[in-house]
Amino acid sequence: MSIYLDNAATSHPKPEGVVRAVTEALTEYNANPGRSGHPAALRAAREVLRTREGLARLLGARDALSVAFAFNCTDALNLAIKGSLCLGDHVIATRLEHNSVLRVLAELASRDRIALTLLDPRPDGFVDPEDVRSAITRRTSLIVCTHASNVTGAIQPVAAIGQVARQEGIRYLIDGAQALGGMPVDVEALHCDLYAFPGHKSLLGPQGTGGLFLRPGVVLCTLREGGTGSASDSMRQPPELPERYESGTLNLPGIAGLGAGVAHVSERLSQIMMHERELTSALLEGLSAIPGIMLYSPREEAARAGIVTFNVGDLPSSRAADLLAERGFAVRGGLHCAPGAHRFLGTLRRGAVRASVGHANTFEEIDRFVEAVRDLV
Ligand code: ALA
Repeated sequence: MSIYLDNAATSHPKPEGVVRAVTEALTEYNANPGRSGHPAALRAAREVLRTREGLARLLGARDALSVAFAFNCTDALNLAIKGSLCLGDHVIATRLEHNSVLRVLAELASRDRIALTLLDPRPDGFVDPEDVRSAITRRTSLIVCTHASNVTGAIQPVAAIGQVARQEGIRYLIDGAQALGGMPVDVEALHCDLYAFPGHKSLLGPQGTGGLFLRPGVVLCTLREGGTGSASDSMRQPPELPERYESGTLNLPGIAGLGAGVAHVSERLSQIMMHERELTSALLEGLSAIPGIMLYSPREEAARAGIVTFNVGDLPSSRAADLLAERGFAVRGGLHCAPGAHRFLGTLRRGAVRASVGHANTFEEIDRFVEAVRDLV
């Protein structure tokens, strides 16, 4: 496989323990968690609980049952948004959001179910919490903000926005797609009511996993009803967490693998964060020394996730990404499913090349990548 710098799309490689945990789930206790009482089913339920507990610890959540599994971050965001809103509500979000937020909101707005305000970031790429405050109306019932832009990597002032939301009594959802597992997250300190995350990015789990943290007391309308293995004599969806939001058989192999990924990350979060920050700095430094490279990611180390986005001369980003792929580097060109962020950067037409580092990248790989980009120029 090529040198992998596409960790913002999905992390690679997965730790050995993740692969082992998926295999064990499929071979040693491949049963339905929370349904039957035989040993394999009980072990499956225990492993699911273990992953839930690991996620709660990483999120700073007091109760493991406040974490509901989802198929991915998009699935969790759909539940958080659609499950929160009523006819006539007003929602504030930012133009930096991924389509997993923008399209959900745009769809509701296009059917006149909600009114929507999309805030531009300041020229430096960060949203101003005071802009959020100014946009609040009597009907505002939800504020949504990405923790870190998947295009620039800019870490948004999510705690300050949370403070505004808390002061105004408005529900607050953070999209943690590019954050959880790559930086400390504390749902209490962020004042968030809902925190959506994927399992397959910085948490190093398999694809098809993700989840949603719900602050105790937050109740969502369900998007899916069905069997939960509990209160089966009732035709009504049970109110208890997490079953209320987890109808149908869970992705046991995925969740077992995610549990191993969470354990791996939790044991070394500060090391991983430091390593990725240093790799990102090296990447930014290397690329900024090449004439003809346009960089879009923040320069301050503490203000960015492990993402460096750039363009090469006049090349369309997809062409540059293809040429880099031919030279053995995996990066992502185009719009990264975040058109608002590209409109803000002025790259809506040509997109940009995104290199995103992960726990297993080395400085030598970064050097080779910078040389390949120089060669391209
Ligand atoms: N949302 C993922 C990305 O930014 C897939 O690439």
